[in-house]
Amino acid sequence: MKSLIQKLADGRHLDQNEWVALIAGDYDDQLLFDQAVAVRQRVYGRDVYIRGLIELSNFCANDCYYCGIRCSNALAERYRLTEEDILARCEAGYALGFRTFVLQGGEDGRDRDDYLIPLIQKIKSQWPDCALTLSLGERSRESYQALYDAGANRYLLRHETANAEHYAKLHPPFQHFEERIRCLKDLLEIGFQTGSGFMVGSPFQTPEFLAQDMLLLEELQPQMVGIGPFIPHHQTPFAEYPAGSLELTLRMVALTRLLLPQALIPATTALATLDPQGRERGILAGANVVMPNLSPADVRKKYLLYDNKACTGLEAAEALDNLRNSMAAIGYQVVTDRGDWKKPTE
Ligand code: 5AD
Repeated sequence: MKSLIQKLADGRHLDQNEWVALIAGDYDDQLLFDQAVAVRQRVYGRDVYIRGLIELSNFCANDCYYCGIRCSNALAERYRLTEEDILARCEAGYALGFRTFVLQGGEDGRDRDDYLIPLIQKIKSQWPDCALTLSLGERSRESYQALYDAGANRYLLRHETANAEHYAKLHPPFQHFEERIRCLKDLLEIGFQTGSGFMVGSPFQTPEFLAQDMLLLEELQPQMVGIGPFIPHHQTPFAEYPAGSLELTLRMVALTRLLLPQALIPATTALATLDPQGRERGILAGANVVMPNLSPADVRKKYLLYDNKACTGLEAAEALDNLRNSMAAIGYQVVTDRGDWKKPTE
């Protein structure tokens, strides 16, 4: 295993079988974490970038079987922030030290280009030193281009699983793996710093599928990669499936750091939901980003993709001092910085 880890670190490429060996093998993860942390420190030092996450709307036209805000969940209490709400949260976030805002939401018909473009322009003109990330699902290439031209810098869209048959087991027939990949390729071509990623331990997942996730990351070379454990939501078809493993999630974070040294990798909220130390453990496995929740307090519990979502502790933007302290305690510093992706120098 040690030599496979070294091979990955040196060549940033493994074949499917080698990936499976590293994903499913029985070995001491600390070895892997140490390598991942060394790579992360070479590129990003001990800086931790923060992103203020603003959850625009939990209306969603999609019906992902794992997600609590899927359109079939009639019990979800729906909300939609107004432009005024959103700008107020940016204002508060800026004062707290955020220099990236992430506008995330379900695929809500309200969020058409003619709504988003003036909003993006307002945010970029009011806070010109901030980066703006969108996470609003699948859209046409024309729409992505228009949002980019309006000033958005980054876009998050996880591929969820790189295996098309597995994708079909996680999503209804009207959602297509090929369309998801089309979106990711369009985003990359347009010039967004693009984030992909996947859940660990989603129903029916195998080590082979996770290996395919890594092969897809190698092919796409996204600037950001979000990896979190699957966590069941009680009002979804996957309510009875077990949550993904924290250990395997951390292993996938570390492997991703070795594959993509420059990647911006968050210690995700789902990680923090499984373990109160999840954020710290993510950083110590090679992550370099955290995304505290900057949504208005009253909607945080409505944007429920899975049960028991953490959003009141270190996840809350208001608790930034706690986050700073907990990162300092493990030897890292939260910085006030846009935290852009760093181009490889070699
Ligand atoms: N458990 C963990 N992650 C989830 N997501 C959606 N539902 C769940 C769940 N039940 C993730 C998806 C999506 C991101 C916004 O949240 O990967 O891309």
